[in-house]
Amino acid sequence: EEDERTERIEAALDELGDDVVILGHNYQRREIVEHADFIGDSYQLSKEAADSDADYVIFGGVTFMAESADIITDDAQSVILPSMEASCPMAGMAEALQVDAAWAELTAETDENIVPITYMNSYADLKAFCAEQGGLVCTSSNAHKAFEYAFEQGDKVLFLPDKHLGENTAYRLGMEDEIVDWDPWDPEGTTAAEAVENDIILWEGYCQVHERFREHHIDAIRDEHPDANVIVHPECRREVVEAADVSGSTATICEKVAEADPGDTWAIGTEIHLTHHLQRWHPEVNVVPLCGDACMDCNAMRQIDPNYLTWVLEELVEGRERNVIEVAPEEKDLAQVALDRMLEI
Ligand code: 13P
Ligand code: SF4
Repeated sequence: EEDERTERIEAALDELGDDVVILGHNYQRREIVEHADFIGDSYQLSKEAADSDADYVIFGGVTFMAESADIITDDAQSVILPSMEASCPMAGMAEALQVDAAWAELTAETDENIVPITYMNSYADLKAFCAEQGGLVCTSSNAHKAFEYAFEQGDKVLFLPDKHLGENTAYRLGMEDEIVDWDPWDPEGTTAAEAVENDIILWEGYCQVHERFREHHIDAIRDEHPDANVIVHPECRREVVEAADVSGSTATICEKVAEADPGDTWAIGTEIHLTHHLQRWHPEVNVVPLCGDACMDCNAMRQIDPNYLTWVLEELVEGRERNVIEVAPEEKDLAQVALDRMLEI
């Protein structure tokens, strides 16, 4: 079945030629990344989308990534997401309308200038909101630079939606004493007036995959492989990042394993498909999942089934554009400002 599907995908790609580019996030299934022209982290893929002049950008990733590609590419290009079900739950944890209401509450409590930074894992309307308020977008590979930029522009940062990436970035910058967690809907939690007494205000969002890594997983790996290098994604909890040897974006994780000496052991604390790719790409390195194979699977990324990839490509051959991701024009320009600020830093 897989051979037949591969043949169909290759036949469609031959037919479409340079009209199509396939981008594959590091967390995509093997059957998707095998067909990708570029594989990378969110930042690298947004740059590839910006540089591409293909008529169709087929995005192996999740909705917010395809939206970003649509914002960055020109209007004549179409971005296609093979499954419309591929939505990152973390992106849904900070909806622009909610943030707008919370922002009003927060800014009413201080005369100081708050700069909002949203992680790439958010929808276009929130990116547009951040641009409007003088803020920007970041990914896990440049969050520290986004913070530096924000503190040049203003006095405080509101970081959305990932509290763990926000906290880990604050530690990286030696600003751990400036952090406060703020959930505007928790009647018992920090109030807006209390929140603005701190320089870094963290929204209550998280990744359901990375939050499941715990320190005991690292302890178990170190017992079993005393020489292991442990690398985790900065969406992991603070204590996990602290117990690891290194943390970094999926691109950093790929680089570290690519640079490893034969026989080295690297334990990988991120989505399981990337760990499996690294095992295949670097058989000379002992690549082990930080927490077994079972639970660290991103359901949103998994929605991009190779049968859907086949379908969108074959439909294109027939002249039909399916699953086009189009950001509303009123959000597009502003969201572009927030992304451009990121690409510039
Ligand atoms: P990267 O930007 O590191 O690829 O991460 C994206 C993501 O969704 C991590 O969960
Ligand atoms: Fe979203 Fe987490 Fe999946 Fe990344 S791994 S796409 S943050 S749910």
